Amino acid sequence: MTPQILLIGHGAIAAEVRHHAAQSGLYGIGAVLVRPERQAMVQRELDPVPVLGSLQQLGFQPALAAECASHSAVRAHGPALLRKGIDLVVASIGALADDALYRDLKAAAREGRAQLILPAGAVPGIDALNAAMIGGLEQASYTSRKPPSAWRGTPAEQVVRLDDLRKPTVHYTGSARAAARDYPKNANVAATVALAGLGFDRTEVRMIADPTVTENIHEISASGAFGTMHLTVRGKPLASNPKTSSLAAYSVIRAILNRIAPLVI
Ligand SMILES: NC(=O)c1ccc[n+]([C@@H]2O[C@H](COP(=O)([O-])OP(=O)(O)OC[C@H]3O[C@@H](n4cnc5c(N)ncnc54)[C@H](O)[C@@H]3O)[C@@H](O)[C@H]2O)c1
Repeated sequence: MTPQILLIGHGAIAAEVRHHAAQSGLYGIGAVLVRPERQAMVQRELDPVPVLGSLQQLGFQPALAAECASHSAVRAHGPALLRKGIDLVVASIGALADDALYRDLKAAAREGRAQLILPAGAVPGIDALNAAMIGGLEQASYTSRKPPSAWRGTPAEQVVRLDDLRKPTVHYTGSARAAARDYPKNANVAATVALAGLGFDRTEVRMIADPTVTENIHEISASGAFGTMHLTVRGKPLASNPKTSSLAAYSVIRAILNRIAPLVI
């Protein structure tokens, strides 16, 4: 039988997952969980896929759940799903900068004998960075460079006049922890680099609003016993959400495939 997943959220990444499920036929969307106030509206759009307004309405044991929603969704549903023994792929990785939630998720996964799965998201090299930790990592930094429009609705608006920028401007330098807290929709990569490597407090982050680029550019540098690495990806944003790189959506899909495929890479 085709594995059925629970999808949390109804935005840009979730749409890519639904599209891939329909196109590939490798897994199905057993249900979509949205905020209660959006349930009726999303149900009309996604019919006949069941749309839930709360986890209590879940009427089957999904092969896994994929969160593509927000920090609040990780907090609201993550521990409960893991305690029910349901593996959970989390896109909103910045939520894990909250130590209490991070501990709760890990405890819930242990209790439910489930796995919390963090996809690499919009960047390459997360596997290498994490492997490098085994030999000892000395330094890790992450720079996010996006067009000014991608920083709308973030604290960058208090630091620079996004509409008037003529040259690349750094609007944040600091730890991955503060980045994840203050830029919840933009600092998922910072959080992923932190979790794979030196942690939220020792991972250095820079964020740049750059009117000369149209892509979301991610740069990772690290050094340690393994040697050094400098990686850059010029990611094309999803048309439906300029804050989100298309690679981030593909990486959630890859994490789903890796749970159901006979070969994992
Ligand atoms: N890991 C990465 O590299 C990476 C990259 C880009 C985005 N993200 C994160 O992935 C998540 C989804 O991104 P997107 O581009 O699809 O965002 P989006 O804004 O297009 O869609 C988010 C959807 O989730 C819904 N939602 C929010 N809170 C919810 C809740 N508590 N319960 C149910 N639904 C809820 C919203 O209504 C919206 O439909 C975001 O948190 C984003 O920050 C991660």
